[in-house]
Amino acid sequence: MSELSFKNKVVVVTGAGGGLGRVYAIEYAKRGASVVVNDLGGSLSGSGSNARAADVVVDEIKNKFNGIAVANYDSVSDNGENIIKTAIDNFGSIDILINNAGILRDVSFAKMSPKEFGIVIDVHLNGAYKLTKAAWPYMKKQKFGRIINTASPAGLFGNFGQANYSAAKLGLVGFSETLAKEGYKYNIMVNSIAPLARSRMTENVLPPHILKQLGPEKIAPLVLYLTHDSTKVTNSIFELAAGFYGRIRWERSSGQIFNPNEKYFTPEAILNKWSQITDFQDKTFNKTQHPYQLSDYNDLTTKAKRLPFENDQGSIKVDS
Ligand code: NAI
Repeated sequence: MSELSFKNKVVVVTGAGGGLGRVYAIEYAKRGASVVVNDLGGSLSGSGSNARAADVVVDEIKNKFNGIAVANYDSVSDNGENIIKTAIDNFGSIDILINNAGILRDVSFAKMSPKEFGIVIDVHLNGAYKLTKAAWPYMKKQKFGRIINTASPAGLFGNFGQANYSAAKLGLVGFSETLAKEGYKYNIMVNSIAPLARSRMTENVLPPHILKQLGPEKIAPLVLYLTHDSTKVTNSIFELAAGFYGRIRWERSSGQIFNPNEKYFTPEAILNKWSQITDFQDKTFNKTQHPYQLSDYNDLTTKAKRLPFENDQGSIKVDS
């Protein structure tokens, strides 16, 4: 099988001075991309800064792999647009954006301060917003863009001590789903990933025998696949860890339609029909048969149905 090449592509990876981002940056560079290695170089909780984190990865790309890379030390949440400017100034475009930078401020919700909530939202969600906002006009104009937003199982399912992080991470999923719809006609494909991998984020919370399985190099292949120019997959969420790759989707129960002329829409009526409202067993339910009567809602879903968002194959052509 021929290699999926990223020659002539300009890639920005945020938080690429360590963990997952470092592996992405190296893999893109190995396959011919010009890479902006962004990292603030702070602590896991987001304090401090150090240019060394990004510099080390840029040196590695240049010296070990003979690749093309430049460093950027801005914070995604303070100067996100400057990171895109680094790509434009050095390489003339921005084709692929991997919103990966992140921090943790884990604490139970009862004890979580407004600052601990806010800073995590700021780095993950506002950081991704700032870079995407700056990259979007270039991607739209050149009719090519690939964006990965880094969600988390903690965002999809919740996790003790991570109300701030879960909110930011599921926020990124909603962000991605809307951008996928707005970007599709410009060939901008936007997906979210919910990884689990060995890094400083997990090394103190998981046992060594599990960590051993969780190499970050097992996450990178899907990220590269989803951002290749022959991949048309968009609007999707993928969960991946330790060599497992799967897709996550929302599911609606078959539900219960109340008579639209019903005089009394009461909590008691809901109580009576609770098992039907929450029933996921009805195999005959077709999610394209929308039960709602509201014309606005139908309008929206009809528009959505015109776009091939359910396409999960994404026929891939490989460069020879
Ligand atoms: P990591 O801590 O090794 O890497 C994150 C990088 O982001 C660090 O190098 C850090 O300096 C950088 N960074 C932090 N704040 C920044 C800012 N404001 N501006 C620029 N750079 C900044 O952690 P890891 O595990 O590689 O995480 C990467 C992404 O994957 C994060 O978004 C994380 O939330 C997400 N994730 C990781 C999981 C895991 O199991 N490791 C699980 C689920 C999600």
